Amino acid sequence: MAIYQATASAPVNIACIKYWGKRDTKLILPTNSSLSVTLDQDHLRSTTTARADPSFERDRLWLNGTEEEIKDVGRLATCIKEMKRIRREVVEAKDPQAPKLSTFPVHIASHNNFPTAAGLASSASGFAALVSALAALYELPSSPSELSVIARQGSGSACRSLFGGFVAWEMGSAADGHDSLAVEVAPQSHWPEMHALICVVSDDKKGTSSTSGMQRTVETSALLQHRIKEVVPARMAEITAAIKARDFDAFARVTMADSNQFHAVALDTEPPIFYMNDVSRAIIALVVEYNRVALEKTGKRKAAYTFDAGPNAVIYAPAENMREIVSLIVRYFPQKDAFKDVFGLFGVAGVGEGGLVEGFDERVAKRFETGAVKGLIHTRVGDGPRRLAAEEALLGGDGKPL
Ligand code: DP6
Repeated sequence: MAIYQATASAPVNIACIKYWGKRDTKLILPTNSSLSVTLDQDHLRSTTTARADPSFERDRLWLNGTEEEIKDVGRLATCIKEMKRIRREVVEAKDPQAPKLSTFPVHIASHNNFPTAAGLASSASGFAALVSALAALYELPSSPSELSVIARQGSGSACRSLFGGFVAWEMGSAADGHDSLAVEVAPQSHWPEMHALICVVSDDKKGTSSTSGMQRTVETSALLQHRIKEVVPARMAEITAAIKARDFDAFARVTMADSNQFHAVALDTEPPIFYMNDVSRAIIALVVEYNRVALEKTGKRKAAYTFDAGPNAVIYAPAENMREIVSLIVRYFPQKDAFKDVFGLFGVAGVGEGGLVEGFDERVAKRFETGAVKGLIHTRVGDGPRRLAAEEALLGGDGKPL
């Protein structure tokens, strides 16, 4: 008996121009285009194995070893159903010899290599890995943009994880969503010096989910209408040009402005939504002061912060600035564990109580207690989904998670 199984991994992405608002909640069609940087899968990824077998009773899915319910009309069921439809129409209808995999139930096991407790969104990498594993299993000729249309229906931001590098999600205009898809703006190799420092901020309160928060913003925020019509179209053009020209100063200016406006429309929601906390705001103050000094000296910014629907900060910067930035963050947010210099950029001295850059006004923020920033992850721009070897499979011979 042949075994029909495939394994794939997919990256996390962090937006510079934020997606916030749907014009169609079922198909997940956004109210504006967005743009993100794909992060390196060596540090953050979801891995998924999918197997089709006529002896399976029904479609089942395990996330980090625990079975998740596949609700009838839910997002998971939609993605699986759509992938089976493409298998049927694009492969089986054209090649009568091809096994009828679309009629077999599937078992899917997925794993994140980063702790869910870190508060990093895993739905983007998770749905991108699911769609990539099924595309490999079904031997689909589909392009990443075509697959992004399916991943989008799992979680909007997931469509951008079908590419590496710098990725736009074009909002499209069709009612059926076929033109609401991800496209590559530039590959990873275009600007490999783009690094990112994720500051995992402690948070014990239950936040508002992206899905419900953005719908409340659509229903109640007048500012969102201005953002959709005027601000985002201009910023998409500006940041695309900045990426193509590798102009970090322009990239940073637009990225920070868009993070600020996303949190402004959250605050403009009724009732208001606050995603950032005191630690997030202190990180903004440090990056602003660091850039003020740089602007004074050279006329150019050296770092860019951005925040999603939670208090964690992501700081984008060219690799050459990362030592200064990590030293700065560690000085104000003492760490329990020594910083992991994964790129070997910091030399034998590592990151200690490094001095501040000359001219930095240290009073812009107070020093926090250990644990306020509970972890730092240094990563960089990365590649798109990877097809993995059979040895990497997450399902055992019995079709259950290993
Ligand atoms: C703030 O993609 O998680 O991270 O489509 O409802 O699943 P759903 O929402 P989701 O929202 C992400 C919002 C964001 C901005 C972004 O990634 O562009």
